[in-house]
Amino acid sequence: MRIFAYVGSRRHNSNTLKVVKSVIDGIVKTSKELVEYDVFVAEDLKLEFCIGCAMCFNKGFCVLDEKDGFDEIKKKMLLADVIIIGSPVLAGTVSGDTKVFIDRLAYWLHLFPFYGKLGITVVTASCNSAKETNMYLSKIVESWGSHLACSIACTVDMPNMIDSPIFNNETIPKYAESIINLIERKRRSELVPSQYQEKYFLALKQTYDVDIELDNAELKYWRSRGYIKFNSYKELIDNIC
Ligand SMILES: Cc1cc2nc3c(=O)[nH]c(=O)nc-3n(C[C@H](O)[C@H](O)[C@H](O)COP(=O)(O)O)c2cc1C
Repeated sequence: MRIFAYVGSRRHNSNTLKVVKSVIDGIVKTSKELVEYDVFVAEDLKLEFCIGCAMCFNKGFCVLDEKDGFDEIKKKMLLADVIIIGSPVLAGTVSGDTKVFIDRLAYWLHLFPFYGKLGITVVTASCNSAKETNMYLSKIVESWGSHLACSIACTVDMPNMIDSPIFNNETIPKYAESIINLIERKRRSELVPSQYQEKYFLALKQTYDVDIELDNAELKYWRSRGYIKFNSYKELIDNIC
């Protein structure tokens, strides 16, 4: 099993990184199979800001990838079975680094490249907005196509969860166990997409199910992968995974 994790914090001794590492440790301890993982923090990637040129939507590539090497990171994401996105709450939402990471993958929000993968979101906060931030991140990982395994929220001040024995010795191992169970269920094709994913799939399908010829990368992607012929996201997963 391969895990890819991104943590949108630049802080040394990042709280979010600590929680993400605990989740990965929990999965390694619980899993019977070899677990390989890559963890990238914001400092490692130094991503360029999206410039809004829309080349990704229209032509299928990002003009900035060559500049900052994000294409290599994307390849790692596509090879992973589990994707973890972690962010601190800054001013009530995801960090700027996390947002840039998402902006640079905006075209993937239309292509479901993470079908068959599990998605995990991890948010740390002093005391507030962790739930809302996790909701935003959950929608993103579901829109990329992954099955949302869990959204982990951890406050560091009020209350101090990050140092609490209950969080570390009970909550994290429970999450790890449920993630391993989901991986086994995924292998038995038992996972059902969320209502949001089904609606989102049908809305996008309407956009791309057209008879006209257009020089558009997204349309070509949907056609070449045969997405158009499926009547639901469940059908797509059952046939492609
Ligand atoms: C600029 C800034 C803004 C923050 N905004 C919030 C906030 O709106 N709500 C909150 O509960 N915590 C807020 N925090 C606290 C962080 O979310 C918290 O310390 C987090 O665990 C930091 O994670 P990191 O160590 O991975 O960067 C803020 C911290 C900073 C530095």
